[in-house]
Amino acid sequence: MRSIAFLTQKGGTGKTTLAASLAVAAAVSGEKVVALDLDPQGSLARWGERRAAAKCKHRVVVEPLERERLPRLAAILDGLAGVGFTLAIFDIAGADNAAVRLVTDAADLCLLPARPSRLDVEATAATFRAVFLAKRKAAFVLNQCPPNYRSHRASEAAKGLTGLGVLAEPLLSARMDYQDAIAAGLGVSEFSGDGRAAREIAILWQWARAQLADGKAAGVATMPARQAAA
Ligand SMILES: Nc1ncnc2c1ncn2[C@@H]1O[C@H](COP(=O)(O)OP(=O)(O)O)[C@@H](O)[C@H]1O
Ligand SMILES: [Mg+2]
Repeated sequence: MRSIAFLTQKGGTGKTTLAASLAVAAAVSGEKVVALDLDPQGSLARWGERRAAAKCKHRVVVEPLERERLPRLAAILDGLAGVGFTLAIFDIAGADNAAVRLVTDAADLCLLPARPSRLDVEATAATFRAVFLAKRKAAFVLNQCPPNYRSHRASEAAKGLTGLGVLAEPLLSARMDYQDAIAAGLGVSEFSGDGRAAREIAILWQWARAQLADGKAAGVATMPARQAAA
């Protein structure tokens, strides 16, 4: 089983939103997905309850993962693989450093969402450093960009993040589909399959899948020496 963790210290960057929609996009492509909510706020777990009520065609199992169980994470993941899951997606409360460390150690790919603002880019750098030091494969995901791709704000942020490490493709825009899908217990690919948000998430899933296929050790995120030493 492979695993993807969404993490950043900053709240509101889109960890839960993207975890939900990426989980669905992966399920649509044939993965057996379990989404694990490590945030005591429980937003992803509540999305899972709405999803169960919505009786969706594509199965995503959503479970809260309490902090006390984290030291047994490797065994938990082995158990999930044993019953047929092929992909685990983690949604982590960014400020919980112990949880971030344990999940980072277990994850094949860490995705760090950031909005196109100076504060987000700066805050995300700290999480990136932790992931980098754990030698995990990691990438920033620029989320909630103005829908105009040529936006100065988005391209400046993309430049800033690319200077720190790897930036996932594509840039994700601020779109109501993301919010409406979460509210309905869906992923954007179910909420509006021919919409732009669905297209973005499909590309993000293709990108993430290619990173996972690349193997664990290869392509570890790069960080300029001055950042790593800071
Ligand atoms: N691409 C997006 N377009 C529109 N709204 C978004 C997008 N990504 C996230 N949001 C909204 O931003 C807020 C924070 O997102 P959330 O996923 O809860 O972030 P986090 O889990 O990192 O705290 C929520 O209101 C969510 O609906
Ligand atoms: Mg969240």
